[in-house]
Amino acid sequence: MSKVAFITGATSGFGRATARRFAEAGWALVLSGRRLERLEELKAELQDKVPVHITTLDVRDAAAVKAMVYGLQAPFDRIDVLVNNAGLALAPEAAQKVALEDWHTMIDTNVTGLVNVTHAVLPKLLAIGKGTSIINIGSVAGEWPYPGGHVYGATKAFVKQFSFNLRCDLVSTGVRVTDIAPGMAETEFTLVRTKGNQAASDALYGTTTPLTAEDIAEQIFYVATLPDHININRLEIMPSRQAWSPFAIDRD
Ligand SMILES: NC(=O)c1ccc[n+]([C@@H]2O[C@H](COP(=O)([O-])OP(=O)(O)OC[C@H]3O[C@@H](n4cnc5c(N)ncnc54)[C@H](OP(=O)(O)O)[C@@H]3O)[C@@H](O)[C@H]2O)c1
Repeated sequence: MSKVAFITGATSGFGRATARRFAEAGWALVLSGRRLERLEELKAELQDKVPVHITTLDVRDAAAVKAMVYGLQAPFDRIDVLVNNAGLALAPEAAQKVALEDWHTMIDTNVTGLVNVTHAVLPKLLAIGKGTSIINIGSVAGEWPYPGGHVYGATKAFVKQFSFNLRCDLVSTGVRVTDIAPGMAETEFTLVRTKGNQAASDALYGTTTPLTAEDIAEQIFYVATLPDHININRLEIMPSRQAWSPFAIDRD
């Protein structure tokens, strides 16, 4: 029987690359996101290799998440790995210039959405126990502050601490938990953050060497396929051309 990976946010970026990586290794896939056309394209690409179930899902809708997970049929009714990847940043401006709605959208997606999915999928992971994994996609922004990070960084700090606290409760169950914290990676992330500004996205990534979606997918696959007795608690990954900056000081 194939192992099953459930990936949220599989229509783009890390989620789509992760679906391809697990398919390469023969895993069955449950793939979700809001854009049906993208899900259908990915299913058409992968279904000759592995069983693929696609489902449109907004992770912010707890009832829809629960109904979808509880309604999964064989061979997708067992879940070995949950990749909690759906997420976004909005509003790269300073906090004092940001619309409250953008803060709410980040909290609703990155925090509420992630706990909605975790709560719904956890019984399925517990039913298998040993060797299963919850892989939460955090960010370097969850550890390190930067201008314009405001609520985005705070939601990713939540992801980190939620991951660690889950570890404490799940320690005797065999279910592993990891916070994967990428640095700068070229996906649709900046396009979403700037509400469609392709030039801003190109300028951010074009003059350096960012991580790729495939780089992160490889790390997710690595964490998920380690021997059962190993739990990577947190994996922070930056491109070698990214590092921290000095403290900002306001001067006269
Ligand atoms: N790229 C980076 O530099 C970077 C760095 C650190 C962490 N991250 C994190 O990595 C994760 C993936 O981002 P990415 O870089 O791959 O960006 P991306 O290319 O924009 O992909 C984001 C994915 O999340 C999905 N999504 C967004 N809101 C959703 C919602 N309400 N319900 C369901 N799915 C939703 C999108 O699908 P639909 O639009 O089809 O719903 C899309 O598949 C995010 O959690 C992000 O915060 C990214």
